[in-house]
Amino acid sequence: MTQERDADRDPDAQPPTEPRADGGTVDDVALDPWGSSTVSDYRKLFEQFGIERFEEVLGEVPDPHYLMRRGVIFGHRDYRPVARAMREDDPFAALSGFMPTGDPHIGHKLVFDEIIWHQQQGGDAYGLIADLEAHSARGLSWAEIDEHARNYILSLLALGFDPEEGELYRQSSNRVVQDLAFELGAEANFSELQAIYDFDGETDVSHMQSVVTQMADILYPQLEEPKPTVIPVGPDQDPHIRLSRDLAARLRYFGVTEAYASFELTDAERRTLALVYEDLADGGEATDGDDASGEADDTLRCEDAAAFLRDAADRADSFGTPETRASLLEKLDNAGMEPLRPRVRFVDRNATEEAFEALVEAVDGEKRVYENHVDAFEVDRGAADQLAREVEVAHGGYGFLPPSSVYHRFMTGLTGGKMSSSVPASHISLLDDPEEGYDKVKAATTGGRETAEKQRELGGEPDDCPVYELYAYLLASDDDEFAKRVYDECAGGERLCGDCKEQAARLMEEFLTEHQEKRAEWEDRLEDLDIDLDTDRKR
Ligand code: TRP
Ligand code: SF4
Repeated sequence: MTQERDADRDPDAQPPTEPRADGGTVDDVALDPWGSSTVSDYRKLFEQFGIERFEEVLGEVPDPHYLMRRGVIFGHRDYRPVARAMREDDPFAALSGFMPTGDPHIGHKLVFDEIIWHQQQGGDAYGLIADLEAHSARGLSWAEIDEHARNYILSLLALGFDPEEGELYRQSSNRVVQDLAFELGAEANFSELQAIYDFDGETDVSHMQSVVTQMADILYPQLEEPKPTVIPVGPDQDPHIRLSRDLAARLRYFGVTEAYASFELTDAERRTLALVYEDLADGGEATDGDDASGEADDTLRCEDAAAFLRDAADRADSFGTPETRASLLEKLDNAGMEPLRPRVRFVDRNATEEAFEALVEAVDGEKRVYENHVDAFEVDRGAADQLAREVEVAHGGYGFLPPSSVYHRFMTGLTGGKMSSSVPASHISLLDDPEEGYDKVKAATTGGRETAEKQRELGGEPDDCPVYELYAYLLASDDDEFAKRVYDECAGGERLCGDCKEQAARLMEEFLTEHQEKRAEWEDRLEDLDIDLDTDRKR
């Protein structure tokens, strides 16, 4: 998956700067699942795409994996529910998929390790072979796919995936996934895929089908029961993650939002109104002469909020954009005397009549029932989410939680530049002869200086060294002290590239030897597993 893309595009080409479906602007970061993903500036992923920094959740993760500790896993979307489930021993899942377009290599190992680690933390783990995608988006024949699929599966098993506890499948033979894909396809239309993936009139229908198939893969772990699910991927897969989060919500019976009056709010308006409400309810200035601030709460009206927002024009910036303020003011003015009271709103999206009635019934405390929603005044947001989901599941709905994701950095190629499966010297395949692996490391580009003397004087540049990356991402394994020592010795000028590469090359050779022994062991047991590695599909 995602480690690298075949270089079928000029990696230096600047994508056009144009607004995207998500409202962000593409500068030199393009997230294209089928393009050549080079990410030159990870900060842009946070700013433009709303990926969150992993370091912000790191402290909530029990016993985090070394890839997390070392910042190789650098970003996430909504990982908190997964971390919480892990801490509280609640059900959660991890799933990722691999396009069998070539040999699995050390970039894929990151993802294998992530799945396996989540499995060891108690999650339901899934590894899938994206053969439909490889066939439709990359044009691989089924014979090629069969061969590669076997190799991915073997490496995943050799690295510690437990097939008794977890599930391995191929997209093409998972009927349940395909049925779910069909349902999901009913919620997405061509214009949307066009906007997200740049599809056009020439795009194969099967390629589009592979997109809904991936959506189904991502939601598959929740079919039996909704649960936090993490999808470890490279950032190029983020468009898929965002779409899956959208689709998960669209299939829900109920949506839960927060409101302050009978009208609906956009997210931005809600943020602004929340601030206004907070100020007003604190006994703020706008409640004209009403000094009994304890009471202010009960008597607040939409017009008070409108007046407050107009008064606050001088500190306007803290109350959202001018557009947000204008649209919110209009709504508040229209509502006039209507009381302003925070509430949780359950919106009927696709619910059956019974399900909606059951929900109304189940809401505790003061509530107000409308045709397409019910407002609850005494239920908190978290409890509301849970209630909606329970009622939904009890009445035949999916109740999906939006899937979460974690993103890892792309590994630099051993020859500098991008790691690419079409350039053998740039990567180390998990199937490479151990000696070949040794040789490739020895031949790698480094972050060293021109001469040993200079290196002693100035130190090397481990941050720009593919060999250091090998240590940090793989060779140092769980040993943080070792990784740090390599870094410090390099930066301090005590470590010279020749010896450093020799050490790395040996470790790589050992790793490959051991990995391939384990693969051989699994080879004999592959038959016993419930995965079909020979399709009878043609072409
Ligand atoms: N599209 C992914 C890739 O290019 C493969 C994939 C298919 C996948 N289904 C998935 C990844 C589900 C994560 C989750 O590598
Ligand atoms: Fe890279 Fe090692 Fe040379 Fe430092 S000493 S630049 S880590 S090869």
